[in-house]
Amino acid sequence: MSKTATLEFDGKKYEFPVTVGTEDEIGVDIKKLRGEAGIITLDPGFKNTGSCESAITFLDGEKGILRYRGYAIEDLAEKADFLEVAYLLIFGELPNKQQLEKFTNDIKEQSHVDEEMKKILDGFPKSAHPMGVLSSLTSALIAFNPSSVDVSSEDDMYKAIVKILGKFPVLAAWTLRKKNSLPLNYGDEDLGYVENLHKMMFEKPNKTYNVDKAVIDALDKLLILHADHEQNCSTSTVRMVGSSHAGLFASLSAGISALWGPLHGGANQAVIEMLEGIKEDGGDTHKFMQKAKDKEDPFRLMGFGHRVYKNFDPRAKIIKKSADEVLGQLGVEDPVLDIAKGLEKEALEDDYFVKRKLYPNVDFYSGIIYRALGIPVDMFTVMFALGRLPGWIAQWREMRLRKEPIGRPRQIYIGENHRDFKPLGSR
Ligand code: ACO
Repeated sequence: MSKTATLEFDGKKYEFPVTVGTEDEIGVDIKKLRGEAGIITLDPGFKNTGSCESAITFLDGEKGILRYRGYAIEDLAEKADFLEVAYLLIFGELPNKQQLEKFTNDIKEQSHVDEEMKKILDGFPKSAHPMGVLSSLTSALIAFNPSSVDVSSEDDMYKAIVKILGKFPVLAAWTLRKKNSLPLNYGDEDLGYVENLHKMMFEKPNKTYNVDKAVIDALDKLLILHADHEQNCSTSTVRMVGSSHAGLFASLSAGISALWGPLHGGANQAVIEMLEGIKEDGGDTHKFMQKAKDKEDPFRLMGFGHRVYKNFDPRAKIIKKSADEVLGQLGVEDPVLDIAKGLEKEALEDDYFVKRKLYPNVDFYSGIIYRALGIPVDMFTVMFALGRLPGWIAQWREMRLRKEPIGRPRQIYIGENHRDFKPLGSR
């Protein structure tokens, strides 16, 4: 027997169907609430609102579980590479050898952008934040690839997907090269996706390009850990913009802007700035723990706490291990890593943090690795965007294939009631 939920309002009872997910998550389907009862639900920030049914990512914040298409994040980070994970997220299954080869080659075929795009990049000042530049360039790509995607054609959809997966790393790398006054370049067909990205970012015009494998492995893992996180702010933005049938690139450009904010992808930058600040202050972690707990003090321990994870963030565990490994392999000694570990140890034993279920999140250690890899602080969120790209694409594709309606929330109006118009002279 299917379940229903009953709502009582103004002396009348209304029944609503209940949807149960494959992991037993329960949602009350209130589509008919307004039509039947004349009322709406109010949930600013969508803290308790399911915006869609999705088969892409499952997370359980209480148990610290994150899975892409049913596969544990721990397994994927350890055993798969970024393009395999991208294929899995977008198409639903891990690729076999031929599928992966074709996917990889098709992306390589698209790993260049129109030369005219350089003129657009040229117009930005060097001081421009890379996220703003990246969002603009992604939007500008539409002008050079104007044919819209026929979503009823799998072939059309596939072509748009490999196109953006090929071109996005070029644009991301160019934002960094512009900042560093380096000549714009293209990648190397013979390299893997992540190594190629690294080469495009860091190759010097007067030096043979060489990179430690540990760097590429660490970067690959970071991209996988960021690849999707169900209906977060930027992903919801991509789905919302796409729901008006705006194209894939336009939807992605909006997602990049949403990710930019310090409450979302921008937090990784805030963590490293906080750790640096503690170091410069003398490295007394206890002092900053006290500040974080003091309600009169606006200081918060950046990289701690999460809206959804109330046990631990599984990505943080993997990243912490990876930070240790990559810094060890590269022989980098970073005093902020010791500060981070000190803070974590204190926080995990502190009543305030334990009671409020505040654990390190994915951003607590990612900045330390990015820094060890030579990535400038204001490029951290660009790295996040590179990782999140397959997730955004998968969510956009799912939304279009499921023929979801245009996103259009309602509101409760709290403004003035009807007023008579006053002519300018009598105001
Ligand atoms: N340091 C100190 N106290 C904290 C922290 C923190 N980092 N985070 C939460 N608290 C406290 C709050 O003061 C509050 O205390 P109270 O109950 O005594 O009032 C309690 O814990 C609950 O905090 P909320 O802000 O209500 O929790 P919410 O789920 O709304 O916020 C958030 C989650 C925004 C991540 C928050 O924990 C925070 O600001 N963390 C630091 C910023 C950060 O690391 N953001 C990255 C998130 S991961 C990502 O976006 C990829």
